[in-house]
Amino acid sequence: MDIGTQMPASAYFAAIYRFGFVAMFDHLPILPPDSILGLAAACRADTNPDKVDLTIGIYMDETGACPVFQAVKDAQRAMIDEEVTKAYIAPQGDDGFLTGMMGLVLGQERFQTRAAEVAAVQAPGGCGAVRLGAEVLKAAAPAGKVWVSRPTWPVHVPLITSTGLELSEYRYYEPATHGVDFDGMVADLQQAKQGDIVLLHGCCHNPSGADLSVDQWDVVAEMAVTQGFTPMVDLAYQGFGEGLDVDVYGLRTLVDKTPEVVIAASLSKNMGLYRERTGIAIFTGPDARTAEATASQAKAAARRIYSMPPAHGALIAAKILADQTLRQSWANELEQMCERINSLRVDFRDRLESTTGRDFGFIAREKGMFSFLGLTEEQALAVREDRSLYMLNSSRINIASLNQQNMDQVVEAVASVL
Ligand code: LMR
Repeated sequence: MDIGTQMPASAYFAAIYRFGFVAMFDHLPILPPDSILGLAAACRADTNPDKVDLTIGIYMDETGACPVFQAVKDAQRAMIDEEVTKAYIAPQGDDGFLTGMMGLVLGQERFQTRAAEVAAVQAPGGCGAVRLGAEVLKAAAPAGKVWVSRPTWPVHVPLITSTGLELSEYRYYEPATHGVDFDGMVADLQQAKQGDIVLLHGCCHNPSGADLSVDQWDVVAEMAVTQGFTPMVDLAYQGFGEGLDVDVYGLRTLVDKTPEVVIAASLSKNMGLYRERTGIAIFTGPDARTAEATASQAKAAARRIYSMPPAHGALIAAKILADQTLRQSWANELEQMCERINSLRVDFRDRLESTTGRDFGFIAREKGMFSFLGLTEEQALAVREDRSLYMLNSSRINIASLNQQNMDQVVEAVASVL
């Protein structure tokens, strides 16, 4: 047999000696670590007491902790007393969660007016929702192409291509201007046609932080109508840009103007339910039959991939969204997080500019957790090696991991490689 490149000769002979043959896992290649999670793990393993982790997109407070929202604690406490069973919830998800989320994402009035034409299925996190959305798109248009922004969140690629759908990229972030290359985006999307899907980030673009303006969203909606492509919106950061309603202007415009939209929304970040895997796939269509069809397809996809949705996060969210006091407490805390990120952006820009004498104005213009610092991969590796400052190889940082303790250290590290 062929020993192959993955298996050392010594392991091959040891296997033959022990079992008489080489078992199949012995040939299995060891994959490289995930480009985001692997770096967060590398930072955890770093013994330098001055290390700084700006890798993964998790909101950290001033003390460097990822807080649990007070409303989540309260809802959870009440749930423990009220819960009478751990039987499965409905395959489509918890009704209170589904209606609460559709109201939050679409806006209560729009949701109520369009209720019969909207379908939703609970999903394990935003990833689960993207995958369910992609499964339904694949069932509807198997030869359709999915257009993703260049760059996009790297996990979009396997989530979508694992359904068998093909990807194409449209220009989005222009490093030279640190902003959206909207002319490039429009030129590329002019090739998107009926049966194609265009994946958009609802707000707080991951990885760039560069968002479309109101006018630009209007143009995209117009293009979807004229060309017949279906928009799909990944909404993982509602409330982290400018506010819960402002952040979904684009999404709601698409829902109002185009015949069908697929939305993958997550409460990982904006309700802090990261580990509870709390997401939803929403499908807006022209009529009740279409809504039923999309929901049935999404449910069938869920059944064949993971069977049932997890309950805990969804039940917490349902309680918070339905209870005026809890909802207000949650919205206030989220608003404070958003304000803190925006003030960190201004502070960071000022300190970078005064230390380096360069223009970092883009950092304060961007939205949400992420920003590309504009370092080369070599520079990003150098600050990791020399200063234990962890950012992605692309120089994406999580602004929400900055604080008054580490900011000067980060500024100095960045200045040292410029
Ligand atoms: C990120 O982009 O860092 C987050 O969305 C977390 C993840 O799963 O990658």
